[in-house]
Amino acid sequence: MAVYNAQLLHAIAEFLSSGFQVYLSNLICIMLRPLLLVQALVGLASAAEQLVPFKYQTLPLGSIKPLGWLRNQLELSASGLAGHEWDFYRFVNNSTWTGGTWEYSGLHETAPYWFNYIVPLAYTLDDARLKKQAKEFLDHVLATQQADGWLGTETKSEERGLWGRFFVLMGMIQYAEAEPSETERIVTAMHKFVNLAHSMLKQNYLGLVPRDANDVFGAGNHGVTRAHEMATAFQWLYDNHPNGNEENIWGAIDLMFKGGIAAQRDWRTFFVDGVFPTVGMPDIVDRRFVHGVDLAEGMRWPTALYRLDKNQSLIEQTHKGVNLTFTYHGANSGTITADEQLAGMAPNRGSELCMSVETMWTMSYLYNFYGTNAYADRAEKVAFNAMPAMLTPDWWGHQYAAMANQPFVRNMTKSIFANIGKYGTVFGLEPNYPCCTVNHPQGYPKFLANSFVKYGNNGLIHALLSPGEVKTILANNNQVTVTSTTDYPFRTTITYSINAVKAFDFYIRIPEWTVLGSSGISINSNSVSRLKPTAEGHQKVSVRAGKTEITISFGQQLEVVTRMNDAVAIHRGPLLYALDLEYTDTSIPSQQYNPLQPLPDNQLYLPYTKDHSLTPTTPWAIAIDPKSIKVHEEGGALREPIYKKGGPPLWLELDACDIDWAVTDDILDLPPKNPVCKSGKKKVRFAPYGSTKVRMTELPIMKV
Ligand SMILES: *[C@@H]1O[C@H](CO)[C@@H](O)[C@H](O)[C@H]1NC(C)=O
Ligand SMILES: *[C@@H]1O[C@H](CO)[C@@H](O)[C@H](O)[C@H]1NC(C)=O
Ligand SMILES: *[C@@H]1O[C@H](CO)[C@@H](O)[C@H](O)[C@H]1NC(C)=O
Ligand SMILES: *[C@@H]1O[C@H](CO)[C@@H](O)[C@H](O)[C@H]1NC(C)=O
Ligand SMILES: *[C@@H]1O[C@H](CO)[C@@H](O)[C@H](O)[C@H]1NC(C)=O
Repeated sequence: MAVYNAQLLHAIAEFLSSGFQVYLSNLICIMLRPLLLVQALVGLASAAEQLVPFKYQTLPLGSIKPLGWLRNQLELSASGLAGHEWDFYRFVNNSTWTGGTWEYSGLHETAPYWFNYIVPLAYTLDDARLKKQAKEFLDHVLATQQADGWLGTETKSEERGLWGRFFVLMGMIQYAEAEPSETERIVTAMHKFVNLAHSMLKQNYLGLVPRDANDVFGAGNHGVTRAHEMATAFQWLYDNHPNGNEENIWGAIDLMFKGGIAAQRDWRTFFVDGVFPTVGMPDIVDRRFVHGVDLAEGMRWPTALYRLDKNQSLIEQTHKGVNLTFTYHGANSGTITADEQLAGMAPNRGSELCMSVETMWTMSYLYNFYGTNAYADRAEKVAFNAMPAMLTPDWWGHQYAAMANQPFVRNMTKSIFANIGKYGTVFGLEPNYPCCTVNHPQGYPKFLANSFVKYGNNGLIHALLSPGEVKTILANNNQVTVTSTTDYPFRTTITYSINAVKAFDFYIRIPEWTVLGSSGISINSNSVSRLKPTAEGHQKVSVRAGKTEITISFGQQLEVVTRMNDAVAIHRGPLLYALDLEYTDTSIPSQQYNPLQPLPDNQLYLPYTKDHSLTPTTPWAIAIDPKSIKVHEEGGALREPIYKKGGPPLWLELDACDIDWAVTDDILDLPPKNPVCKSGKKKVRFAPYGSTKVRMTELPIMKV
């Protein structure tokens, strides 16, 4: 009976999510009611309510190993800043979480952010040094869990904010999946914590909604604006290890949402035509939802709620929220333009690095939930463009904010940003706020962890295209290994070597930009045939037991997109291109973010922690002729690291001329309309955006 009910509810949820009319769903609810009543009367605890499942399932962390350029990038992250924060970075090494006192805000989120990335970085690379760091932190956090279940050192209610715990739980979740021997103690600690959280939330949302300014955990209202995040961690526990504690977990999830709503942070009221801001700061009046990182996470809010609420309108609102965000504040590089608050479409406004990694994770979460092909493309766009552009090739320095038109990076005399300091574009340890120092390294490890997902009982999808190898078990103990050998996104051919004990369905996601006419697939060296996308945008291959070789190739074409002031940006397949300026690099030891001043040597990791200012040595004020673009592609092995100047094996050559373009106190004007050529026609070189550190992306068209 219990099983039958669970299946029925599941089937109904599926049925409803296929888009049936509301009256029909109401009818079903009415029909179902006696059934639920009977169940309640019989008191079947095991027939607890279900959360709506994801369409595609992620694999346990560690199932996918990186290869090729992506492995190199992850190794650089491990040998660079990300792999050394534990050794020296005061907000990690000496935070309240590790026996010190260093915190940059009452959110107490720094070491948790670090844990959320070190676990997937350590386990995707199988790196013993990083695994040891993760284990030391886990051991310490579990050993210091307080008698009432609280994770962390805070004892006063003013300091006990739920938000900072979210990343500790996310790190623990990934740990439990990667290291089954640790699952039990992690899950036990999570249950103790969820029970405490539930009882706190029942006391007028203690720890979630700040009561007054004394509640220092409420800094910036980020916790309450991101209430769905903790609910997401609790949903994992509910899905995977409910252990008879369903009522408390469900209660805590439900109250996280209710608290956020009570505090006027209901994202359903924001993703609405006429409410959602179509302009940037400072022209936005209602500022509750305009923080770019909040929004990068908030795009998941309606879906996280839908999992329990099951109201169809939340699905539409998710798609609406994503559409509004990118229609009015979308950058060509795939990220959101917000410095730190929404900034509209202007190419001289900034995007915070945290927005890149949060958008990547949101888009893979939404792809896994709905199977909407465009979301995976969005995750890829950020991963291959916006994010790497903000890092130094050795992964020791990052920008806090980047601009599409960024001809120089320096300690500016004046900036156009809404809420980012004048040092925010410098590449370094903590230019502007330290949150990006501890959050950005989650980008690629989580991208990789979402690159292959399960579909149904016996299907596997290559969702986020990249080089990697997955080992997993499908239906009937079918052990499967798939190796994806590719230079994607720099070259758009992928070769798969598959080894399977039994037959299964393999799906390759076909990006939406694919030109089907110049694409093809060949299986076991048979002749090339055309791609046949399924309704979900996959190429389906029915793989037999034994070995299979597949080669797939995606045709791509240039796409010239018109942006503000009739300026244009150039895309081709998964990559965005930009004028690749020559520059000189001046560096000094990394500065403290606030106040901006030198850091003592014992808070640096010398000689690696440097701040870099870049000054262009070639003209950047140009107009271009998009009809003149020639694509150049080089053969041979990829250079490493790939995201350095001149790294990628492809570039564009096009005609351009010099024009006037004003800069006032370091603030670049918008692209000039109808510019006049000051020079004759000349050739310029555009490179993949991720490899350009000083660049111009949105340029006016020259008159020929
Ligand atoms: C912090 O760094 C010091 C070296 O500066 C090291 O001895 C110590 O173990 C580190 N602490 C943690 C918690 O990693
Ligand atoms: C951080 O803690 C370590 C001991 O774990 C100590 O050696 C170091 O001086 C501390 N650093 C700072 C900046 O407080
Ligand atoms: C679903 O949400 C919509 C929009 O918020 C609301 O109008 C409607 O009443 C909700 N339906 C149910 C069954 O709760
Ligand atoms: C938003 O939706 C409209 C209508 O479906 C579509 O034409 C447009 O391309 C979408 N925009 C974005 C940025 O996704
Ligand atoms: C940045 O510029 C300010 C003046 O605007 C100056 O006080 C400060 O010393 C400069 N810092 C660095 C690291 O260049």
